[in-house]
Amino acid sequence: MTALKLSPEQLAALVRGMPKAELHIHIEGSLEPELIFALAQRNGVSIPYASVEDLRAAYAFTNLQSFLDIYYAGASVLLKEQDFFDMAWAYFLRARADNVTHAELFFDPQTHTDRGVAFSAVIDGLRRACDQAKAELGIQAELILCFLRHLDEASAFATLEEARPHLGKFIGVGLDSSEVGHPPEKFARVFADARKLGLRAVAHAGEEGPPAYIWSALDVLKVERIDHGVQSLKDPELVKRLVAQRIPLTVCPLSNVKLCVFPDLKAHNLKQMLDAGIVATVNSDDPAYFGGYLNQNFIETFAALPLNAHDAHTLAQNSFEASFASPDQKRRQLHKLEAYCERAL
Ligand code: ADE
Ligand code: ZN
Repeated sequence: MTALKLSPEQLAALVRGMPKAELHIHIEGSLEPELIFALAQRNGVSIPYASVEDLRAAYAFTNLQSFLDIYYAGASVLLKEQDFFDMAWAYFLRARADNVTHAELFFDPQTHTDRGVAFSAVIDGLRRACDQAKAELGIQAELILCFLRHLDEASAFATLEEARPHLGKFIGVGLDSSEVGHPPEKFARVFADARKLGLRAVAHAGEEGPPAYIWSALDVLKVERIDHGVQSLKDPELVKRLVAQRIPLTVCPLSNVKLCVFPDLKAHNLKQMLDAGIVATVNSDDPAYFGGYLNQNFIETFAALPLNAHDAHTLAQNSFEASFASPDQKRRQLHKLEAYCERAL
């Protein structure tokens, strides 16, 4: 595709309407304050905020940990299978509005099982929403089970054991939560077992942590994608490898600004990544906390950086290529994208 010169409004419209995949969304991070309050009331759970506005006012983060503390408090209202369904369904309605046609949702079972919630309530509610998203909204949706890296290896192993009877309901494992001080190596044996079960593997690395964590996510955990990975540009050898092996990065621009990884979107390195040939994608991470869903991430990032229609096309293409969709599904998704771009440009 040629780099057509579009006005900012035309570029925004192109980006908004593009079919795309979302590969980095923590479903617990899609819990809007209104739903937190509604579920708290429904389940008789008390939360330390007086109102929706009070809760939203607390969303002033200084780093990843300051966010995680509030994010885990928000998730405490989730108790029943229906709660997990309602949360995911609300996300899928937003995803549909943003022209997301394929979504891979992270979920954090330990956040719930550690509070006494049954693993089956978590995964069955989420899976039911995924199946309904496919049937009613035409969104291909899959689940990725994330281990919390601030907890120990034994807890991750116990979670993998609990997940075993549900293997057909999720496609892979990931690694999230507090990064610095919890290198990927800590979970080498858990990931090896998960891969033996036929699960795909991804990991958060290089969000706040050093490029060394990206190397070990690749070499020790043998992940197929890196979540965030924005610190990779500090290491030219790593960039060479990401490009040569076409290892995708699931980048989350609004998240990176809200968690002070970059001072503002103008300082974000997404354009440098694309220019270097990295298979970067745009994602929302925790949209209820970071100021927007997928299209908001695209629109604000395109407004702040010198990105053009060619970059928009590359990002959408990358999102499908980097997904865990089957080759046939990928072909069909990419075909729809090409048809859209031909109509739009
Ligand atoms: N869990 C939810 N959002 C996260 C993020 N941005 N980094 C690490 N763990 C997370
Ligand atoms: Zn994340």
